[in-house]
Amino acid sequence: MGLFTKKTPHTAGEVDRSRLPRHIAVIMDGNGRWAKKRGLPRTAGHKVGAEVFRDIATYCKELGVEYLTVYAFSTENWKRPADEVSTIMGLLEQYLHEAIDTMEKDHIRLRFFGDMSVLSPELQALAHRTDDISAHYDGFQANICLNYGGRAELLRAAQRCAERGLDWTEENLSANMYSAGIPDPELVIRPGGEMRLSNFLLWQCAYSELYFCDTLWPDFTRQELDKAIIDYQRRDRRFGGVK
Ligand code: IPE
Ligand code: IPE
Ligand code: MG
Repeated sequence: MGLFTKKTPHTAGEVDRSRLPRHIAVIMDGNGRWAKKRGLPRTAGHKVGAEVFRDIATYCKELGVEYLTVYAFSTENWKRPADEVSTIMGLLEQYLHEAIDTMEKDHIRLRFFGDMSVLSPELQALAHRTDDISAHYDGFQANICLNYGGRAELLRAAQRCAERGLDWTEENLSANMYSAGIPDPELVIRPGGEMRLSNFLLWQCAYSELYFCDTLWPDFTRQELDKAIIDYQRRDRRFGGVK
């Protein structure tokens, strides 16, 4: 059993909507294995994974979660074969095209965490466009981590603090992260069976509750999210103190 996992058997239960995490973060892992199991190319898993993201974001909004941050492409994922990387980027483009059309109707704000400057001009333009639309209203916000790494984000924040002559305080570093102004995730979910953070939100996860499950991301459902939230709601969060 992993150090961080509390393996309580899942008993029937309901999410307590009065004690929801404000911010849930998800490492969307297992797309490739999901496809391989079916004799499909890895890219087929990414396609289904994108649909699952859409559904889980809608569900988070319906539940009343304020922020959902998902890991879509890490600074390490460039090591993958070029055709897989370009398919992932193509899917993101397609997703953003569709999202732009429905954002105002769905009231889902989209933000990006990561270094977008090396992405294609099309993707950058779409990201700017979604940022502009998002600025027009408030409500549920989904953050997509794209070419994101926790260490790169920390270095960037440190450089920004230095350039601005800011003191080295936790507040100043937090204010210079991509997540500035957003509460830290209370709950981090990693489907796909691996028990590691893979360079995700290293600063923001300092006191997050971690939930790991074997379900591969393309098989992840609303019920699975309920299960993770119920597990989170059973935990005793002490933050170093005593109760
Ligand atoms: C996560 O699924 C998506 C990305 C990292 C882009 P993977 O592609 O890592 O799937 P597995 O872990 O190989 O099954
Ligand atoms: C983490 O998954 C990154 C994303 C989900 C985008 P990986 O599949 O890249 O992580 P490792 O290689 O198992 O650590
Ligand atoms: Mg993986």
